[in-house]
Amino acid sequence: MSIEFSSGFAQNLKTAELRQNVKITLTALAHSAVEISLLCARGPLDTAFGALAGSENADGDSQKALDVLTDEIITAALKTVPVAYYASEEQDDLITLDTSKPLAVASDPLDGSSNIDTNVSIGTIFSIFEAKESAHASFFRPGTEQLVGGFFVYGPQTSLVITTGNGTELYVLDRADNRFKLAIAKMNIVEQAKEYAINASNFQHWTSPTRAYIEECQMGKNGALGEKQNMRWIGSLVADANRILMRGGIFLYPQDDRKGYELGRLRLLYEAAPVAFIIEQAGGLATDGTNRILDKKLETLHERIPFVFGSKNQVNRVKHHHDIKT
Ligand code: AHG
Ligand code: MN
Ligand code: MN
Repeated sequence: MSIEFSSGFAQNLKTAELRQNVKITLTALAHSAVEISLLCARGPLDTAFGALAGSENADGDSQKALDVLTDEIITAALKTVPVAYYASEEQDDLITLDTSKPLAVASDPLDGSSNIDTNVSIGTIFSIFEAKESAHASFFRPGTEQLVGGFFVYGPQTSLVITTGNGTELYVLDRADNRFKLAIAKMNIVEQAKEYAINASNFQHWTSPTRAYIEECQMGKNGALGEKQNMRWIGSLVADANRILMRGGIFLYPQDDRKGYELGRLRLLYEAAPVAFIIEQAGGLATDGTNRILDKKLETLHERIPFVFGSKNQVNRVKHHHDIKT
């Protein structure tokens, strides 16, 4: 298995050694992704597939067997490449692998766990940093310091969306020769589309700016937007993000008044920051409703952040509603 990197891949990274270490690490993650995609493809044929593992992660989310298994697969892979530290949604604390190595990796090993049993696309999200003098220092920093943001999608295609800060690329796994091949060299999000993604069942819990924006979307032609809008909500961040990269639109997981959702649901380190990096490099915006996600410095390992991203004009419209509210 290999990735056929584009000729200019990671050329913006400062040294040839760093580029090589990133490529080695990405190839190991891609190996893991192929193994995970095969587990997803077998689904209920493997008894432990979607069953609850009986444990909980740091966020109190009950862990599905596949959540735990994918984390084990990725941890084993990272032990073979130049990675010093690992941060995972499925691990309470930071993991030290080898302090002599130059990189640090954060991951949501399985994104969209609620969809495991339903044959809906799920994925793996990851972020790569240069390792610093400690595990803490390597991750507790703003998302602007990421070297790489990426996610795999296990769906009809097994694909890899990735950026090193020099545009966003799409690779698709060719199972004929087990190689990830470049499908789109420069993904581009249109500035304005007519599609929004939000879990509308939380309407009663939203703040007034979120309600105001979603009501505009629902009013469509008869409201301020002046055009009929469409709605999608897949329940897998990677699948919603992939759709927005392909045809534009906006995704919102805002804060709401449910206990534990004061900062929304998505985690900054291994969900919002890598996806925000990808979205910005494809010409979109990614905010907490008002402020840029990538500027936010991590304060606690599993901290959540309200997450709004996608087509520039639509994300700015959400900011407008926050601004006029204050
Ligand atoms: P994870 O499975 O890693 O916990 O992520 C699930 C996230 C994200 O993928 C998705 O957008 C969101 O949870 C869906 O949340 P709701 O189930 O509240 O709609
Ligand atoms: Mn997730
Ligand atoms: Mn997860």
